[in-house]
Amino acid sequence: MVTIAVTTEEADEPRVAVSPETVKKLIGLGAKVKVQSGAGLRSRFADEQLMAAGAEIAASAADTATGADILLKVRRPSVDEVKGLKPGAMVFSILSPYDDRPGLDALAGTKAALFSMEFMPRITRAQSMDVLSSQANLAGYKAVVDAAAMFGQAVPMMMTAAGTVPAAKTFIMGVGVAGLQAIATARRLGAIVSATDVRPATKEQVASLGAKFIAVEDDEFRQAQTAAGYAKPMSAEYQKKQAELVASHIKIQDMVITTALIPGRPAPKLITREMVASMKPGSVIVDLAAERGGNCELTEPGKTVEVGGVKIAGPLNLAGTVPVNASSLYAKNLLTFIETMFDKKEKKLAVNWDDEIVKGTLVAKDGAIVHPSLAQKPA
Ligand code: NAI
Repeated sequence: MVTIAVTTEEADEPRVAVSPETVKKLIGLGAKVKVQSGAGLRSRFADEQLMAAGAEIAASAADTATGADILLKVRRPSVDEVKGLKPGAMVFSILSPYDDRPGLDALAGTKAALFSMEFMPRITRAQSMDVLSSQANLAGYKAVVDAAAMFGQAVPMMMTAAGTVPAAKTFIMGVGVAGLQAIATARRLGAIVSATDVRPATKEQVASLGAKFIAVEDDEFRQAQTAAGYAKPMSAEYQKKQAELVASHIKIQDMVITTALIPGRPAPKLITREMVASMKPGSVIVDLAAERGGNCELTEPGKTVEVGGVKIAGPLNLAGTVPVNASSLYAKNLLTFIETMFDKKEKKLAVNWDDEIVKGTLVAKDGAIVHPSLAQKPA
């Protein structure tokens, strides 16, 4: 029988890689699920709930993982955890494969098959396995809620006998998964919402959510989307035009949420120090790109700073601040992926190593790093 182990995350990671719902479904595939006692607590999944769903609870990480065929994690596991698994076991996590290469090599040295969930190809079939989407959606929502709390003024327009409260002007920069949810959330709160992006496809999406689209729409803009659906880095000339447009728009905003990213690069700097200085005291910036350096020049990752009365937040794990939802959706992403690796009739593992979603996410196997994007450059 295939044993699936789930261990507790580090202190700074509130999420967990399993939920009562996915325990049940993993068991339905013919697997045994072992969860470390307390692993789900910060996501409000008590041991009893997981046990009621069919999981076995083990006391320590070692008790949980030793001899298992599959390890499910949110963040990259430790070498010790992986060493105890069955030889050639499979490990699924948000691996951050570009960080700490020596650590990644050591993990690969255990000969486990390491899967990096953030490499999931963005194809229709894999949409339900896309962890970047499931987590970015929650982050986009939470960014607006946090911005509204920091703003210290009402967001919707209110006409009362004592006078009218104006609606907060909210500007969303970068309209990918997080940005779209940020627009929707800000609209629900009653804000007056505008948004910008460099990909032309976003223009209609912004309008369909009832927000105003603002962008430099030149020839470069018309070609800014790659075949994979991501943004290209823009030319210095475009950036200059974009900065002029943003400068005139941002000074009248109350809340700004930035989410702009370009794969494999530092986040583009869209808000300069001067732009912040032009904003009204009391206004707020929540920079979701903080993890990759931030879209605002003044962002300090992991902190909230105040400059000239403007609060600038650079949160690092916003999805983790809604852990019940984040864990449930992440666990479901993992389940849907793992389901494709099971022979449902025989109730056993049957991995098709040639499947594009397996190939796309497999980082290491049999002691070697196998993902093309991680091939070591010659010294
Ligand atoms: P992302 O997190 O890489 O970037 C966020 C947004 O920032 C993007 O919309 C990007 O165009 C924008 N951006 C980059 N540079 C900018 C700049 N200089 N100024 C303003 N905006 C800038 O993107 P995310 O959220 O991962 O989505 C990328 C695309 O992938 C979208 O088209 C989305 O619909 C698509 N997608 C497809 C999926 C699938 O088919 N399985 C799943 C999820 C997303």
